[in-house]
Amino acid sequence: MLSNQAGDGKRASLHGHWSSRMAFILAVTGSAVGLGNIWKFPYIAGQNGGGAFVLVYLICVVVIGMPVMMSEILIGRRGRRNPIATMELLGREEGSSPHWRLLGALGVLAGVLILSYYSVIAGWTLAYIVKSASGVFDGASAAAVGDEFGGFVGSWQLVLFCHSLFMALTVFVVARGVEGGLERAVRFMVPALLILMLMLLGYSINSGFFGQGLAFMFTPDWSKLTWLSVLAALGQAFFTLSIGMGAIMAYGAYLPEETSIPNASAAVVGADTAIAMLAGLAIFPLVFANGLDPADGPGLVFDTLPLAFGQMAGGVFFSTVFFLLLSFAAWTSAIGLMEPAVAWVVEHLNQSRAQASIFVGGSIWILGVGSVLSFNLLSDVTFLAGTIFDNIDYLTSNIMLPLAGLLITVFAGWVMCRNSTADELGGSGLVYKVWRLLARYVAPVGILLVLYNTVT
Ligand code: PHE
Repeated sequence: MLSNQAGDGKRASLHGHWSSRMAFILAVTGSAVGLGNIWKFPYIAGQNGGGAFVLVYLICVVVIGMPVMMSEILIGRRGRRNPIATMELLGREEGSSPHWRLLGALGVLAGVLILSYYSVIAGWTLAYIVKSASGVFDGASAAAVGDEFGGFVGSWQLVLFCHSLFMALTVFVVARGVEGGLERAVRFMVPALLILMLMLLGYSINSGFFGQGLAFMFTPDWSKLTWLSVLAALGQAFFTLSIGMGAIMAYGAYLPEETSIPNASAAVVGADTAIAMLAGLAIFPLVFANGLDPADGPGLVFDTLPLAFGQMAGGVFFSTVFFLLLSFAAWTSAIGLMEPAVAWVVEHLNQSRAQASIFVGGSIWILGVGSVLSFNLLSDVTFLAGTIFDNIDYLTSNIMLPLAGLLITVFAGWVMCRNSTADELGGSGLVYKVWRLLARYVAPVGILLVLYNTVT
């Protein structure tokens, strides 16, 4: 629940504050845990050969993701505005330039682009709730499950309908404000999702192919690791943690002063990584058990999990609940993707929250049509990274998010004075020193190195 008091006389946010530390952690976890963990992580890991990719991804999460997340939260809390206004204000306050607002704008744009395809995939999960409940996967063979998926995404009308439905649901929540309902949903959703993932894991362990899945995920074959897969791992770390686009900055703007940023960040990063690992461990054994291809692409989760549920006792029920939870997880992430743009429109174009949400949501819906058609009518139209969907995904995850992350660490590590950052991060002890080392050197140099090596 939000109040309008910062509590200690410091700057207050226009949009209110989180009721408690837990509420903030839940909201950020809700943003972080989503399709990125369960849909994207397994298929990207599969396409990049497994083991070595997973290891690089984990390293990126710890040495780049953690410091970027902490930087974003501290910048957000200090500015207490939408990401663009916050960057402009702090740029001035810290004696640099108001043009830092362009960094905020980059984030807002990334959020809009990501949501345009995110909503399409989230639409698939909505459809899979209905499919699961209807029992089509009950005892189905791998081929039948695959055909079901192919038939579904092949119909642009169905995919467009589901995309529209999901966008409408997102606009509905965003229009009403970042509020208690969201907190309550996440409080129940994340643990429930964890329980279902553990059930799937149990099934995978008994599939007879668990060892093979485990080996695929954790035995690094360095010969498969190219700079492009390192970039994919870096991009995935940004995407899954929701960093580099202002979502976390926007949430940080509502964070009470007394909350510890390092602790909150560690909790979110831990939960997010655990869910992604569980998803991989549940899915890869099933891929091998059924002779599927780990490099199958965006359909991987939709081709494997319904198959497993279809063979379990009570599978119709669990499958329905699973896709319901996944849709919920996507929903709470979508809200975070839209929030920066909506906050900006409210503050700058003087519109009500409802008007701003409808305007932003409508624009994103139109953009999303490109991704809807990427799986059917326009699936043969490929350029640069592939289909329209592939290109938006590549541009945002692999270029825009890391670039914004680089600039965020430069801003927090080099532009902001020591006193400001130490003040936000709770003093200049060991945690602060480690953060500063990572934010000033390790993260920016690491990101530059990867970007440089992939363009040359
Ligand atoms: N982290 C979300 C996921 O894993 C996606 C997301 C990215 C949400 C960026 C908000 C901002 O699904």
